[in-house]
Amino acid sequence: MNRPVPQHAQAMRRHFHEAAARRGFSVAPAQEAAVERLARMAAELARPAWTFPRPPRDLYVWGPVGRGKSWLVDTFYEGLPTGRKRRLHFHDFFRRLHDGVNRPGTRHDGQSAVDSALDELIGDSRVLVFDEFHAHDAGDAMLIARLFRTLLDRRITLVTTSNYPPAGLMPDPLYHHLFEPTIQLIEERMDVLDVTGPVDFRRVEAPAAADGGRRFATGLCLPPGGTGLEALGLTAPEPAEATPVQAHLRELPARAVRGDVVWFAFDALCEAATGVPDYLALAERFPTLVLDGVPPLAEASADGRQRFANLVDVACDRDIRLVLIGADPLTALPADQALTRDLDRTASRLAMLQRTNRARTSP
Ligand SMILES: Nc1ncnc2c1ncn2[C@@H]1O[C@H](COP(=O)(O)OP(=O)(O)OP(=O)(O)O)[C@@H](O)[C@H]1O
Ligand SMILES: [Mg+2]
Repeated sequence: MNRPVPQHAQAMRRHFHEAAARRGFSVAPAQEAAVERLARMAAELARPAWTFPRPPRDLYVWGPVGRGKSWLVDTFYEGLPTGRKRRLHFHDFFRRLHDGVNRPGTRHDGQSAVDSALDELIGDSRVLVFDEFHAHDAGDAMLIARLFRTLLDRRITLVTTSNYPPAGLMPDPLYHHLFEPTIQLIEERMDVLDVTGPVDFRRVEAPAAADGGRRFATGLCLPPGGTGLEALGLTAPEPAEATPVQAHLRELPARAVRGDVVWFAFDALCEAATGVPDYLALAERFPTLVLDGVPPLAEASADGRQRFANLVDVACDRDIRLVLIGADPLTALPADQALTRDLDRTASRLAMLQRTNRARTSP
């Protein structure tokens, strides 16, 4: 048995309640079980590793969008005293894994390139927080299976969040069977906790502090023409300001770069062959990204919609300010039709920008 250190559980509980109070909210009833479970985990982790008969049980937190899952695991992460911890976002995990595998000089004998890239990502951590876990294709399935095996072998504790219950991962029936062994492993090895509160917190009016000073929460959705831009100290770019911008392994045509603001047309960023690594590279360099010419997503191509959804995910996780100019992207989207994967995630994140709009325009 892992005998936990009780004062660490108490300290973690307090940390959660104080973190919530600083933002002007309180831990919601649907979050309480997760707070308790994470407090217990903190107490188990407080024991020196050599006294561990086995690592604490892993935790899989899932639920609909905007229920405060990332807040829970980020707050846990922040409150953990150990330095031997890592937090990875799904998109970042794959980018760094691919970069590691493709780095010049990496050996490509069978799986060893993946293993050494994983080694580098995990380092000497005892806890890995993996936010927004999902799987959509055969490549994901292989890499995630590998990650799980590595964590098991190394006795590393995994805490994940997801919008899917384990059995719903890899929803595509074409690939689902490829993921079944990993689903089984998750169900055997992880405690599964459902955080399904009644509301998406991004959609309710909240005190400014609720966003914890996050830059993403200061983003905006503006109408065509960009009325309201001047309040951000911005004006539309002149044609002469067009410039290539280095993204991941390629340059992309920006409408302008002004200090720490980069400005793109929707078509140049979402209807061209760009990808998540490009958005991550831009987010690392520019704290503000303006995207104009945003169409109703129903009019964009399927790839364009998916890229836009990924861009919004990256902006939210990397906490950059996103200013969207154009149509409300989600108008006219048939509610019953899955036009892109995980579009409810995009809608929830955009609701946060629209909340900023309302706060700015209300007296
Ligand atoms: N108990 C709460 N009361 C009010 N707001 C909260 C509460 N918990 C978290 N929040 C806020 O709600 C917003 C959404 O939380 P978070 O990003 O953690 O949701 P999520 O469940 O991870 O959503 P997604 O599945 O879309 O990633 C954040 O701004 C967060 O600070
Ligand atoms: Mg989240």
